[in-house]
Amino acid sequence: MSPYSYKINGGHKLCGDVNISGSKNAVLGVLAAAMMIDGVCNLENVPDISDVHVMIELCQTLGATIETEKAPEGSLTLHIDPRTINTYKATGAAVSKIRASYYLLGALLAREGKASLRMPGGCNFGQRPIDLHLKAFKAMGAKGANPENLNDGIITLEASPLKGAKVFFDIVSVGATINVMLAATKAQGKTVITNAAKEPHIVDVANFLNSMGAKIKGAGTDTISIQGVPVLPGNFSYSIIPDQIEAGTYMIAAAVTGGDVTIHNVIPTHMEPLSAKMREMGYIVDEDDDSIRVCKEEDAEITGTNIKTMPYPGFPTDLQPQAVVLMCLADGMSKMHENVWQNRFQYIPELLRMGADINVFDRIALVEGIKKFRGATVTATDLRAGAALVCAALAAEGTSYVTNAKKIDRGYEHIVDKLRSLGADIDRTEEVYYEQDEEA
Ligand code: EPZ
Repeated sequence: MSPYSYKINGGHKLCGDVNISGSKNAVLGVLAAAMMIDGVCNLENVPDISDVHVMIELCQTLGATIETEKAPEGSLTLHIDPRTINTYKATGAAVSKIRASYYLLGALLAREGKASLRMPGGCNFGQRPIDLHLKAFKAMGAKGANPENLNDGIITLEASPLKGAKVFFDIVSVGATINVMLAATKAQGKTVITNAAKEPHIVDVANFLNSMGAKIKGAGTDTISIQGVPVLPGNFSYSIIPDQIEAGTYMIAAAVTGGDVTIHNVIPTHMEPLSAKMREMGYIVDEDDDSIRVCKEEDAEITGTNIKTMPYPGFPTDLQPQAVVLMCLADGMSKMHENVWQNRFQYIPELLRMGADINVFDRIALVEGIKKFRGATVTATDLRAGAALVCAALAAEGTSYVTNAKKIDRGYEHIVDKLRSLGADIDRTEEVYYEQDEEA
């Protein structure tokens, strides 16, 4: 597929209603978990995004049978039968396309007692080690779990049997928490994870596993206990939770365009870190059972704020770029402290091209409010940065091209249709635009 961009004519207020899709970071863990069951299952509310298609492809190369059905509202329903899996190796190039492929380590260890995986990919925020995953698998009896045991980028682990263990994470890690939960589900004995991550997608994977017959307690707290079981019967349907990060992105898009949007199919408590900040800045954020309305009083003053990204229930790092766009259009100085990733400000130069006034010092960005963004040609450096640039372009005066737009489609289902339905002037174009050099 040739490269494509999103062409956006900014300045239109977003108004109306938008439905949030299933959570990318939940469904990627749930798909790996589905590979462990001893029956069949149906997954509903699966977002139709490229990372999901990559994960489906990976599961199919293992031999799993997955039929994809288009649901009326545009999401996918998957009919999964993992009993046809015929290998413990996931070493093809596709593995390096996404980070979540590493969940197959935990799932295959649990299912086959052996796993061989090419090192995963994912957004480039600097170092993305998997030492916590390997340390935990080693504690559970897996051989080959030493970081130096990487033969040309392939990790091979063996554990027969996998045993329950006490696992303490000195860094809160979403991926390591999910991976150990998967491996522990069918291990012999009990595993207790301390200092576990508490994100909504962790709870969704645990709920999925429990509805399969697993025995997991405490997901969503910092201590999770898993009693291993020999069989996971499956034979049920499960619906993926709404995407917290997609919802936050639309809340911010509504705010920066001065619009009035109601976001449906959300779990308001998951949005609390962002909702609280937006209210503090001067936006109206009204919650109902499963929807949130974002708007602002006509002459409301929007003031800057300070944010520090933290593991849930702190402010999510995956909304950091979008929140910086919100800060750019607030009065006065704001500060964004990126506390999870080593280097997650690579998109800032793209915002500077749109007229932003930001200075970055290591993990801190100091943002001076401006009146307006100006349209420009910018590049998505990763999926959330790309979404942030779309928000800035929607608010900007003039036309913008967000190139490398396929990165955005990794995590945002039908983004052009959804934004158009809110009044945005956005098109997908195959022409990759670069600003003409100034006339000599
Ligand atoms: C997940 O990545 C998400 N990806 C990321 O979202 C998200 O930014 C991140 O969690 C934090 O919330 C998926 O769920 C597919 P971590 P993950 O392990 O699991 C360090 C998006 O935009 N660490 O919680 O890779 C790590 O370097 C993506 O949807 C170790 O040191 O993140 C980081 O500093 C981008 N050793 C911190 O922990 C390890 O073995 C948190 O990472 C593992 C992690």
